[in-house]
Order: sequence, then structure tokens, then C-alpha cells
Amino acid sequence: MSTVLITGAARGLGLDFVKQYAARGWRVHACAREPDALREIAGDVQAHRLEVTDYAAVTALAKTLAGEAIDVLINNAGIAGREATVLGSIDPVVWRQTFEVNTLAPLMIAEAFVEHVARSEGRKLIAISSRLGSIDLANSGRYAYRASKAALNMEWKGLSIDLAGKGVICVVLHPGWVQTDMGGEAATLTIAESVPAMVQVIDGLKPADTGRFINYDGAELPW
Ligand SMILES: NC(=O)c1ccc[n+]([C@@H]2O[C@H](COP(=O)([O-])OP(=O)(O)OC[C@H]3O[C@@H](n4cnc5c(N)ncnc54)[C@H](OP(=O)(O)O)[C@@H]3O)[C@@H](O)[C@H]2O)c1
Repeated sequence: MSTVLITGAARGLGLDFVKQYAARGWRVHACAREPDALREIAGDVQAHRLEVTDYAAVTALAKTLAGEAIDVLINNAGIAGREATVLGSIDPVVWRQTFEVNTLAPLMIAEAFVEHVARSEGRKLIAISSRLGSIDLANSGRYAYRASKAALNMEWKGLSIDLAGKGVICVVLHPGWVQTDMGGEAATLTIAESVPAMVQVIDGLKPADTGRFINYDGAELPW
């Protein structure tokens, strides 16, 4: 049996990741700030209460799951940081919070769970990033969000180098512009078009893919 751990699992892309993997018969560790509804999902879904910036809770969960092998870990939780978007309205509080959730928390989770992933067969450490974090594709506005995801990308590149010896495949994925609370109604993709495609990409990852930045449809993205 394969096992996946997903953060930010109560809604949006995270919730659909839970449903997709549970439907395939995987054990799913679904982590959310409000996890109760996740217990209703059919399958082997273990719901855990987790605020990703509560690092004591992250460490405690890693201890609780100490005996487990985690084939795929998906750092999905994220925030849009919209209030700190453009020059003239930079809000340091929002800026720091955006970095805390989007950049620091995924790395702390990677650190806490690296041995769970390394002892599995799949050995895939995934971060849901964004093409808005691509410096090559940079556009105006959304400074905090863009910078937080660019920094996340750099972290994952570093992890791919440092964890190569353990055989851990470290990849950042862009889900497309998706109709979630964050993406909004104008987004071009439905959740049903994005998440199953990302699951397919994750399925196909090989050791040689470590350190890549990949679109939901499998296309390479520029850093
Ligand atoms: N939708 C898009 O178009 C798009 C595009 C590019 C990248 N992404 C990325 O995809 C990921 C998922 O986004 P989404 O579209 O599904 O957004 P969403 O619908 O707004 O959901 C965000 C999820 O993250 C969780 N979360 C936020 N802060 C958290 C915290 N401090 N601790 C624990 N969980 C937290 C939320 O939990 P609560 O329910 O408790 O708030 C929620 O489950 C994010 O990393 C986002 O940056 C999305």
C-alpha cells in the first residue's frame, strides 16, 4: 500500500488530492486546520489537525507517524498574500505571513518528514508552487506571493541537491490557474482538470526528474 501526506487538505486543490489518492486505495494523511470533514471521505483517510506554521505541531505529527513510510509528500497549503501586492501598498505583516506559510512552512515540513519519505518506495517530495514564482516569466504586482514562491522554488532546488544521496525526488509543480477560492471564478482550469493531471505527473516522476519545475500538464517551466 502506498501512502501520501497532503497539507492544506480541507478545500481547493488539497481536498481533491485527498479524494484522488483515497479513491486509488492509498493511505492518505490529510492535514488541515479544520480536519473534521475529511473523516467523511471514503477510503483510508487519516485526518490530522495541522496549522503548517505551528512547527511544534509539525514535529509532533512527524513523531506520531514515525513508523510510516510516506511515498509522496505534497506541500500544498498556501496563501495569496494579496494585500501586499504592489509598490505603494506593501504591508510588512502580510509579507511576513505570506513567506511564513508559502516558504518557511514547506521547508520545515520537508525537514520533519524527510526520513519518512526517504524510507518509502516512492520517495517524492512535492511542493505546489506557481508560475508566478518564475523569475523568467515575471510580471508586475503580487510581489509577496511571487517572491514567496520563487524562494520556495530555490528551496526545492537545494533539497534536490542535498537529498540526491537519499534518492528523494524533489519537484515543484504549478497547478495551472485553477477555480478555487484562491484562483477565483475567472480561472481557466477546473479542479478536475488540474489535480488528476498533477497526480499523473507525480506518478511518472523518476530520480532524473529531481530539481525540476513542472506544469500540471507535465511541461517544463522556466525558473
Ligand atoms: N488556484 C490557483 O490558481 C493556484 C495557482 C498556482 C498555485 N496555487 C497554489 O496551490 C496551492 C493550493 O491553492 P488553492 O488554489 O487550493 O487555494 P485555496 O482554495 O485558497 O486553499 C488553500 C489551502 O491552504 C490551506 N492553508 C492556508 N494557510 C494555512 C496554514 N497556515 N496552515 C494550514 N493550512 C493552510 C487552507 O486551509 P484553510 O481551509 O484552513 O484556510 C486551504 O486548505 C497553494 O500553495 C497555492 O499557492 C494555486
